[in-house]
Amino acid sequence: MKFRVDLDARGYEVHVGHGTRALLESIIRDRAPRAQRAVIVTSPQLRVLPWFDFVTGVEADVVEVPDGERAKTPATFVELVETLAQRGLSRDDLVVAIGGGAITDLAGFAAASYLRGIDFVNVATSVAGQVDAAIGGKTGVNLAAGKNLLGAFHQPIAVVCDLDVLETLPPRDFRAGMGEVVKCALLEGLDGEGLRSMSFDAQVELAIALKARVVSGDEREGSTRALLNYGHTLAHALERASIAQGRDDLRHGEAVAIGLAFAARLARALGRLNDAGVAVHDEMLASVNLPTRVPDHYDTLDLLEAMKHDKKAHHDLTFVLAGPEGFSVVRGVDTELVRHELEQFRGES
Ligand code: GLY
Repeated sequence: MKFRVDLDARGYEVHVGHGTRALLESIIRDRAPRAQRAVIVTSPQLRVLPWFDFVTGVEADVVEVPDGERAKTPATFVELVETLAQRGLSRDDLVVAIGGGAITDLAGFAAASYLRGIDFVNVATSVAGQVDAAIGGKTGVNLAAGKNLLGAFHQPIAVVCDLDVLETLPPRDFRAGMGEVVKCALLEGLDGEGLRSMSFDAQVELAIALKARVVSGDEREGSTRALLNYGHTLAHALERASIAQGRDDLRHGEAVAIGLAFAARLARALGRLNDAGVAVHDEMLASVNLPTRVPDHYDTLDLLEAMKHDKKAHHDLTFVLAGPEGFSVVRGVDTELVRHELEQFRGES
């Protein structure tokens, strides 16, 4: 199945299904016909998996980068760009990113910057990567001050989402990716029963279809794309605190799950959502075994401070919240209210 990200000349297809990794060679031939070389960016852990059997049709080198959010640093980025130069990639050549969201963000940013921008293909190997990170052209790395603060919009020339590769994911990583799937299901107005009535493949397709449609309508996040950040204000604060504390104990999707449960409570506190709406969030997240509470070792005031520095915020507290007329970006949410709700949220069993 194919979904189109419709951005005129920069538009591209997202190829979803079992075995779609075999399409890579024809995708490169069609979309980058002048390419003679490719650098495949992946991690040592992925490279040894049985499905790592990619054919590019051009001279290809594999370059290993560390996996995970901690590797998304300016230093790793510079090292990767130096490697692209050493391998002699020209403007007609390309980068193939094979990995989860951290690898596609990092490799995409290297492709965006090297020679002021060369082509890249994303082969997404995690659930969160397939339904979110690999699609839409947001590339970048983290700064000490926050997540994804150094980056660029640079669209891939194609995205490959092979459902077969998800079968080798560690259970915790698979589960975490469901946080982004639940986010998409909520944005599409589904409840727990609606989500459960779909096969896993159909859930992934629903999420990819939503992402492709939203990016096609608002590439630079001027309006509707911001809604894809549902649950992410608290999620990014938790991830930042997790890295700062040297714990790295939360996967992105787990942080998003906690952020979704919290956003529902904040919406209720603001009179935008009723108890049943909060229960729908909790039930959907629990049905895929995701956490819905802030772990005790995260300090409320640290999280509040981090949320104020989220890149979506304008020196205030900004959240995507459910409401009677659908989801919207709500700016300037009262700090005291957020603090109170965060404390209550922790207190729930
Ligand atoms: N991850 C949200 C977006 O791509 O806009």
